Amino acid sequence: MAYLQTDVTKVTTRVLQNMKLRGEKIAMLTAYDYSMAKLLDSTKIDAVLVGDSAANVMEGYDTTLPITLDEMIVYASSVKRAIRRALVVVDMPFGTYQGNSKQALASAIRIMKETGADAVKLEGGEEVLESISRILSAGIPVMGHLGLTPQSINKFGTYVVRATEEDEADRLLRDARILDEAGCFAIVLEKIPAALADKVTRHVSIPTIGIGAGSATDGQVLVLQDMLGITQQFKPRYLRTYGTFGDDIAHAVKQYIADVKNIEFPNEKEQY
Ligand code: KIV
Repeated sequence: MAYLQTDVTKVTTRVLQNMKLRGEKIAMLTAYDYSMAKLLDSTKIDAVLVGDSAANVMEGYDTTLPITLDEMIVYASSVKRAIRRALVVVDMPFGTYQGNSKQALASAIRIMKETGADAVKLEGGEEVLESISRILSAGIPVMGHLGLTPQSINKFGTYVVRATEEDEADRLLRDARILDEAGCFAIVLEKIPAALADKVTRHVSIPTIGIGAGSATDGQVLVLQDMLGITQQFKPRYLRTYGTFGDDIAHAVKQYIADVKNIEFPNEKEQY
């Protein structure tokens, strides 16, 4: 195989750190349910994110804002029951960590206790530093998330590429260093110029995981349903699809309907 792939039985935050040091890229995908997570577990995926993109993919909302902590806990515990090897990271939903750091810690503790996950992820830089520090002080690993932060969609009003202007790029680099110094174990960089992601990656000691941030980041993450071609209406430039499973599912269901209507299913071997 063309990649090094650490031969570990369980991926930890330290394993990801060592992968950055060795220059081995980190592959991460989202999952929200047991069946898909079980398929991921049969691969050598490094990390699985139970993203709050579940609000879009699983629940049909336009934004990630409505999803609740209780809902995230159901998704995350389903995923965790399937995953043996990969690091499982769970998104802290909107409104569960921005208010104050005590609330943030209580939310993170619920996630860790009730799902068995390995780490939490939350969006933002300096403005959420107090929450991050308090969660970290309880021994809970934290992944940061900078650039396009979907929970702030109402502030920005658009999902266009972020940090294209110098002042925003400088702020993002400063935030990345703050998260690194605070003790986060990795940072997601979403939809920012590739050159900026490259610079951030070289200026922080922790792994960067990109989505729409070019190839220089230490790893990549995609939403599973997007890369499998199941969410067909979502086609940003950064998305590469690795299958046409949306079409395949529709084709299979149409075939099933036809077989039922034509009394071709079940056949003699398929009955008692
Ligand atoms: O919620 C999510 O799926 C995410 C990824 C897009 C990084 O945060």
